[in-house]
Amino acid sequence: MQRYPLYIDGAQVPSASERWFETENPFTCQPWAEVARGDSDDVDRAARAAHRAFSEGAWAGMSASQRGQLLHRLGDLVARDARRLAEIEVRDNGKLFAEMFGQLNYIPQWFYYFGGLADKVQGAVIPLDKKGYFNFTRHEPLGVVGIITPWNSPLLLLSWKLAPALAAGCTVVIKPSEFTSASTLEFARLAEEAGIPAGVINVVTGFGAEVGAALVEHPLVRKITFTGSDSTGRAIGAAAARHLKHVSLELGGKSPNIVFADANIDDAVNGAVSGIFAATGQTCIAGSRLLLQEDIHDAFVDKLLALAGTANMGDPMLGTTQVGPVTTPQQFDKILGYIDIATKEGATLRSGGKRATRPECGTGRFVEPTVFVDVDNRMRIAQEEVFGPVLSVIRFKDEADAIAIANDSRFGLGAGVWTGDIARAMRMSERIQAGTVWVNTYRAVSYMSPFGGYKDSGLGRENGAEAILQYLQTKSVWINSGAPSANPFVMR
Ligand code: NAI
Ligand code: MG
Repeated sequence: MQRYPLYIDGAQVPSASERWFETENPFTCQPWAEVARGDSDDVDRAARAAHRAFSEGAWAGMSASQRGQLLHRLGDLVARDARRLAEIEVRDNGKLFAEMFGQLNYIPQWFYYFGGLADKVQGAVIPLDKKGYFNFTRHEPLGVVGIITPWNSPLLLLSWKLAPALAAGCTVVIKPSEFTSASTLEFARLAEEAGIPAGVINVVTGFGAEVGAALVEHPLVRKITFTGSDSTGRAIGAAAARHLKHVSLELGGKSPNIVFADANIDDAVNGAVSGIFAATGQTCIAGSRLLLQEDIHDAFVDKLLALAGTANMGDPMLGTTQVGPVTTPQQFDKILGYIDIATKEGATLRSGGKRATRPECGTGRFVEPTVFVDVDNRMRIAQEEVFGPVLSVIRFKDEADAIAIANDSRFGLGAGVWTGDIARAMRMSERIQAGTVWVNTYRAVSYMSPFGGYKDSGLGRENGAEAILQYLQTKSVWINSGAPSANPFVMR
């Protein structure tokens, strides 16, 4: 079996404990590689290497333009190897090759965009209220950043964090999900090929409690940026607070996809299906609450069931497959558990509701696309993130009702609004408490547009020019250019 060592200070090394763990292919449920099982000793080595690279040597001495050029080169190498990297991701997370290849082909844009931004970070000259001083600001990198990523879109979510962090001049220690370590380790080799100096990017693989927690606790790590579950995010936030570390968190949601009677219904059906069944529902922006205006409810549900019923399940590498397996055994149990909860809560099951055992699914862990109607927004199935192909359909009367239901959630990551009325679209986009609102579309993202959560969906924003500020701190510099000497015992 193939072995993936750690990547620390420009070298592939086994973990200090020389232990390994297996990583499994969710379609076959067979292990396909062994990954180094790191712990706090490895995190310490990596953080020290990252701190050295930040403080001295080639990276520290480089101009922002030179850093930008390295990011461009890295983007080119990802583009060159997009197919190979996408295949590795599918082997580890079981998502459709079409989806992962699409992501891999898009990832270079993050490195081009933030590479281009690297040398356009400018301070300001402040026109002071005091005579005889010159005051200006500089934006300086925070230092070593710990990046903790989940399994659903490993390299895409890594790139959202890594590209602005490197553009800002930071160095990083990456801890990928224990379910999907391989693509991040392969990616680190590309960074080396691009000429990014040793120590700038380090990867420590292993488990959350052993590697992730040690990274959050490490004194040389100045910031943690994380995407994953809200419970782990809260634990990281609390630990970061103890150490006064900067922290960005993206913690998923329970996003409402809201369809008004005046919408283009076929487009909306399409958007509802892509919102929940694409990626087997394993996405932070899943449109897992479908809010339907009562006049169109029944006809809409019929069309939705018809379309969902045509979904091909099976081998994620095949171009004809539309719904792949569930990535992890824990996730599979969680999804089936929520189906049980919804049934007990009194929701009406209209399709799916069980493990898929079609012959094309082989030995994989698949869940049939599942639709519950008669869901009350107070039910757990409407309030908690399932992270699987399970849709909760909720009726609403009018705009005010839709807003009230949509916002009655502790989450606020995304929301969809389907309507033919532009004024209504404007009103809704203003009143929905979510970091992203899509009107007559769903699940669109770009490196250029800010992304992040309201409420319990997280802290901070990724993507767009402002993302680089999350890796910078502002310094104010005062120069006496002729201020009169003053009383030393009072503030100047
Ligand atoms: P998780 O949040 O536990 O794991 C995400 C990352 O955090 C992994 O790299 C993990 O090793 C690390 N981690 C775990 N415990 C840690 C700790 N104490 N300190 C530092 N790092 C730690 O998510 P998991 O267990 O993979 O999935 C559980 C649920 O999380 C899913 O059912 C889903 O609801 C949600 N999730 C949300 C995602 C999103 O995009 N917002 C992505 C993946 C999962
Ligand atoms: Mg976990």
